[in-house]
Amino acid sequence: MDDVYSIRTFRLDDKDRLLAQANNSLVSAYLLDAFPFPYTEQDADAWLAIAIDQSPKTLFVITENDQLIGGTGFYPKNDVYHLSAEIGYWLGETYWGKGIASKTVYTLVNYIFTNTHLIRLFAGVFSNNPASARVLEKNGFVREGYLRKSIIKRNEILDEVRYGLLRQDWMDAFEKA
Ligand SMILES: CC(C)(COP(=O)(O)OP(=O)(O)OC[C@H]1O[C@@H](n2cnc3c(N)ncnc32)[C@H](O)[C@@H]1OP(=O)(O)O)[C@@H](O)C(=O)NCCC(=O)NCCS
Repeated sequence: MDDVYSIRTFRLDDKDRLLAQANNSLVSAYLLDAFPFPYTEQDADAWLAIAIDQSPKTLFVITENDQLIGGTGFYPKNDVYHLSAEIGYWLGETYWGKGIASKTVYTLVNYIFTNTHLIRLFAGVFSNNPASARVLEKNGFVREGYLRKSIIKRNEILDEVRYGLLRQDWMDAFEKA
């Protein structure tokens, strides 16, 4: 990313901005119910406790001039899937439509493939979220299939669109660039 937009680990002083950006019905509409609306002070405290405590770090703040404007991270899988991780990301609504998520995913993927042994990243996008699908496609993720009617969000049943990216394909694209 550039000097203005970046990612970093969470700090306790992110709390006010986390609350202000996360407590938005439109943001949580495309995320797991674990990212609730309303997003309360208790939700922010619980999240910060996990994110600040964890080692190694997998949860990050998306920043504009070091100030929180969203969140991103990866979730390594277990057992036979332990070379894979799911990625996730969200931005405060006022920051949408400026290319920030696309840059964030690039930065996150670069971080993961540089610092971990993971060989596959994937993301599950609700079928009513074409902007997120586009963010992944712009970063080389391939649409691998649909988990039909696998989601129920706010009483609406939706498909999940699965996107995947292999370390090898990312490295090949890098070498060509
Ligand atoms: C999804 C989200 C992260 C996108 O962030 P963003 O910074 O606005 O994304 P970008 O600007 O980097 O890119 C969005 C792309 O989608 C495109 N897009 C936006 N709305 C679209 C739509 N309705 N249909 C198709 N494409 C759309 C944009 O044109 C852009 O593509 P382009 O660069 O080729 O023009 C943001 O809207 C968000 O936080 N949403 C709520 C949480 C969420 O959905 N997280 C992802 C869960 S999988």
